[in-house]
Amino acid sequence: MAIGLRHRVGVAALELEGDEQVLEIGCGPGVATRLLAKALPRGRVVALDQSAKAIAQLTAGASDEIAAGRIVPRTAALEDAGLAPQSFDAILAINVDLNRRLGDRWPRLLARFLKPSGRLVLAFEAPPGSRNGDLFTRNATAALTGFGFSVSETRHDEDGQSVTVLHAVST
Ligand SMILES: C[S@@+](CC[C@H](N)C(=O)[O-])C[C@H]1O[C@@H](n2cnc3c(N)ncnc32)[C@H](O)[C@@H]1O
Repeated sequence: MAIGLRHRVGVAALELEGDEQVLEIGCGPGVATRLLAKALPRGRVVALDQSAKAIAQLTAGASDEIAAGRIVPRTAALEDAGLAPQSFDAILAINVDLNRRLGDRWPRLLARFLKPSGRLVLAFEAPPGSRNGDLFTRNATAALTGFGFSVSETRHDEDGQSVTVLHAVST
C-alpha cells in the first residue's frame, strides 16, 4: 500500500522527538508504522492489529525495523491486548472507528495506556463525497471531551483526498 495523506498527516501530528514509546492501533499492513519507526530512531512503536493477515503484511515489509526492536508487532484487539498502564508517550490510530466498535469506553482505555500528559492522534480519511469524516469527528470529539481530554481538530485537503485529524491530550 502506498503512503497516503492520512499516513503522512497522522504521523506528523504526533510531533515526535525521536525517543518516544508509541502505540499504533489498527496498523493494517504498516504504512504509517514504518513512517513512525523512521521518526523514532531512539524509540519504539508497538503496532497492534486484530487481523493476523495485516500483521503478517507488516512483518514482511518491516523486517529490519522489527529486528532492531523499533517496531513491535502484536496481533490483538486493543481491548484484549493487556497493555501495561502508562506505557506510551503517544497513541496513533488512522482510519480506525473506535466509536463503532467500543461505544464510549475507548477514551478511558486509551487514557489508561498513556503516560501523564501523553498525546493521542486520530486521523480519518473519508471517501470523496462521504460525510463519514464529519460523523467520526463529532462522535470522537464528544467521547474524548466527555472523558476530560482537550481536543483540537485540523483538516487536510490534497489532490481530492480529505483527512480530519483529532489531536487530544489528557487534562
Ligand atoms: C481501515 S483499516 C486502516 C489500516 C491503517 N491504519 C491505514 O490507515 O492504512 C482498520 C484496521 O484497524 C484494525 N482494527 C479495527 N478495530 C481494531 C481494534 N479494536 N483493535 C485492533 N485493531 C483494530 C482492523 O483490523 C484494520 O486492519
